[in-house]
Formats: sequence, C-alpha cells, structure tokens
Amino acid sequence: MRNTPSKPFLKWAGGKTQLLEELEKRIPEELKDGKLPVFIEPFVGGGAVFFHFNNIFNFDKCHIFDINEEIILAYTVVRDDVDSLISQLDDLSSEFLSSNDIARKEFYYQVRDEFNHSKADVNFSRFGALWTERAAQLIFLNRTCFNGLFRVNTQGEFNVPFGRYKKPKILNADLLRADSDTLQNTEIHHGDFISAGSFVSERTFVYFDPPYRPLNQTSSFTGYSKNGFCDSEQRRLARFFADCNAAGAKLMLSNSDPKNIDYDDDFFDTLYSDYKIERVPAKRMINCDATKRGEISEIIVTNF
Ligand SMILES: C[S@@+](CC[C@H](N)C(=O)[O-])C[C@H]1O[C@@H](n2cnc3c(N)ncnc32)[C@H](O)[C@@H]1O
Repeated sequence: MRNTPSKPFLKWAGGKTQLLEELEKRIPEELKDGKLPVFIEPFVGGGAVFFHFNNIFNFDKCHIFDINEEIILAYTVVRDDVDSLISQLDDLSSEFLSSNDIARKEFYYQVRDEFNHSKADVNFSRFGALWTERAAQLIFLNRTCFNGLFRVNTQGEFNVPFGRYKKPKILNADLLRADSDTLQNTEIHHGDFISAGSFVSERTFVYFDPPYRPLNQTSSFTGYSKNGFCDSEQRRLARFFADCNAAGAKLMLSNSDPKNIDYDDDFFDTLYSDYKIERVPAKRMINCDATKRGEISEIIVTNF
C-alpha cells in the first residue's frame, strides 16, 4: 500500500467524491472475488471514482475515456512524464507564490494566454514536446482560477478568471507520483464513450458518469467541452449500456435525479427500466439561489 492514496489531480465539474461511499456499497461481489480484472470508465472526468476504486482493487487493466482532449493529455503526462511535470509545475508554483497580489494576477493571465495561444501547435493525438508544459499549465490554472473549474468558450479557449486564493497548493508531488503509479495499468483514450465498447466483456466492470441531465434551466451548465449532452445523448448512452449488458459486463451508472424537480419526470426510470435503479442522497447545488441549495438525490443504475 502506498503512503499517499491516489486522488484527482484536477478539480473537475461533476466530481464524484461525495458519492464514493454510496457507489462503493454497491460494487458487484465478483469485483471483491477478483473475477472482474478489467475496469472501464467511459466518462472519466477528474477520475474521483477511477482513483478510488484503484486504491481498493488491483485491476489487471483499466481503460479510461473522455471527449475532453485536455484532460486526456494531462492523464497521459501524469502517467508517462511525471518527473518533468513536477519540475515544470514547481517552476510555475514558485514564481506565483513568491509574487505579490498584483503580480500573481498578471502571471495567471500570462499563463492563461500562453495556454490558449499554444493550443493550435499541439498535436493532441500524439505525445510531443509541448504536452508536459501544457499539462503543467492546466494544473496551474485549475489550482489558481476562480472556483477551480475547467471551462472553455465557444472558440475552445480556457476563459475562467483569476481566483485570488491566499496560498493555493499548486504542486502536490506525492499525489502526482501516486496517480502516476496508479495509471501504469491504464490505457488512456480520447474519444466518445462508444469507443469503450471494444474493451467490454464479461471480465469487465464499467462505471458510467455521464454529464448530468440538467435539473432545471439554471443548472444547464455543460462546460466540459464544446459539445453538450442532451436527452438524445442520454438515450444513445442507454442503448450503449444495453450493449455492454449483453456483452456480460457488470455495469454501474450515476446521474442527476429529475424527480428532485418534478416528481412525475420518469426519464431515467423509463430509460433504465430493465435494471436496478436506486436513489441516494447527494450534496449538490440544485440552484444558483443559495437559499435553494441542499441535499438532493442522485440515481445509481446497476445491472446486477
Ligand atoms: C460528470 S463528468 C465525470 C466526472 C468524473 N466521474 C469525476 O468524478 O470527476 C463527465 C465527463 O464526460 C465527458 N464527456 C462528455 N461527453 C462525452 C462523450 N460523448 N464521450 C465521452 N466523454 C464525454 C466530459 O468531458 C466530462 O469530463
């Protein structure tokens, strides 16, 4: 057992840290018996679930996917070039932390501009000289930006303003090394969730965490990428879920519960009527209006 457990190295919209306990309670027995040696996450995001399950189980092989090319680049750099990443992040961190407030803000926007301008020169499908620098910039921006979220505008530019934290922890070298260790058994794929299909068999456990179905107008934030995830995408995913079920895999999926807003909304109950659907409490903002924040439920769908 490592001293530092692996955990997300980026803060990412929809992170599942709050739901880990509920998910863990429901894992298939076969996983504990070592009969599911392959783990697949078609919507890995920040990887809270991926890292957590890898701390508990020794998978022979993992496959992670995301449509967001920046996060896929970052995972690959953490896996394959962690020492150089740590050293570059250390440089960014030292410069930032040794500056006064005005200089910090200037430095933040300088890194953000550099990150956006260099995008055109990066070949996202092939590890190259610019990758490690880009991953360091992404982690730096994620740690120092407002609310710590990744968000791009319609041109695909990172557009989150400066965050004003007193002493942000920009570099956590032990965590990056732990994550790098964990990722050694993992194939990292950039692409649509459908491409996970070729790795699914009766030896796999698949956890799906698609972008939430918006609970209402004000929560219709889909800032993960330029592409939104509308109801027809949720239906396409349900068809893929059925294919994975037919392939004999053990499956678990989570999403927002539309019944939080409209008790008669049976969208997921209909979509996943062939499987087990449970509702569990989750702490998540349901509304921008602070008075309406509180505990709501999420759904967990399993095929076992
Ligand atoms: C809810 S987040 C996952 C959160 C993650 N499980 C965590 O705990 O941090 C959903 C992810 O799906 C990705 N995504 C959106 N559409 C996708 C698609 N068609 N195929 C694969 N990934 C997609 C987004 O980029 C985002 O990172």
